[in-house]
Amino acid sequence: CRVLVLVSGNGSNLQAIIDGCDDNLDAEVVGVISNKPNAYGLVRAHQSEIDTSCVIPHEGESRSDYDLRLKAAIDKYQPDLIVLAGFMRILSDDFVKQFEGRMINIHPSLLPKYTGLHTHQRAIDAGDSEHGASVHFVTPELDAGPVILQAKVPVYPEDDASVLAERVHEQEHAIYPLVVKWFSQQRLRMTDGKAYLDDQLL
Ligand code: GRF
Repeated sequence: CRVLVLVSGNGSNLQAIIDGCDDNLDAEVVGVISNKPNAYGLVRAHQSEIDTSCVIPHEGESRSDYDLRLKAAIDKYQPDLIVLAGFMRILSDDFVKQFEGRMINIHPSLLPKYTGLHTHQRAIDAGDSEHGASVHFVTPELDAGPVILQAKVPVYPEDDASVLAERVHEQEHAIYPLVVKWFSQQRLRMTDGKAYLDDQLL
């Protein structure tokens, strides 16, 4: 399974996936694409001798024009699976539809709770006792695709957003490589907007 990872920043999830693929004969990270030239994820890719591309938005460029260039960059790698790992751009509907069932994302909340940004602070502000992360198939609606796997963490009264984020991050690094593995073993699919593992509805 040819895995392509899209990042915008630190890339700790990318690292977890690279490490996971080292132990998984079914999957290989064939490339990393960033929309930011200084993303640390690119450094991680170089360290593992993985090919990288940058698709930097031009000033005033429309979303659809950017997404066309992104699509062209992606196609060069002929990926079976596209993994969004902290890729901080909203993707157009047409773009997403081209990769339906082959593109996954990780979001730092227990979806459907807290789509969008600032999820850790929002969980604290709501007084939640539980928070976490979700891996889901990407569909046109932001953070609304079917969930594949979630990890839960406790929220303690003394937590601030950064402590909580760190606790969630640790779990992300466990669940994201596992989902990549399932996909590479052809155990995972999305049909009619629903996610299945081994033909069981998730
Ligand atoms: C993670 O918290 C992920 O849930 C969100 O972006 C962050 C990326 O972190 N989508 P990293 O770049 O993988 O360290």
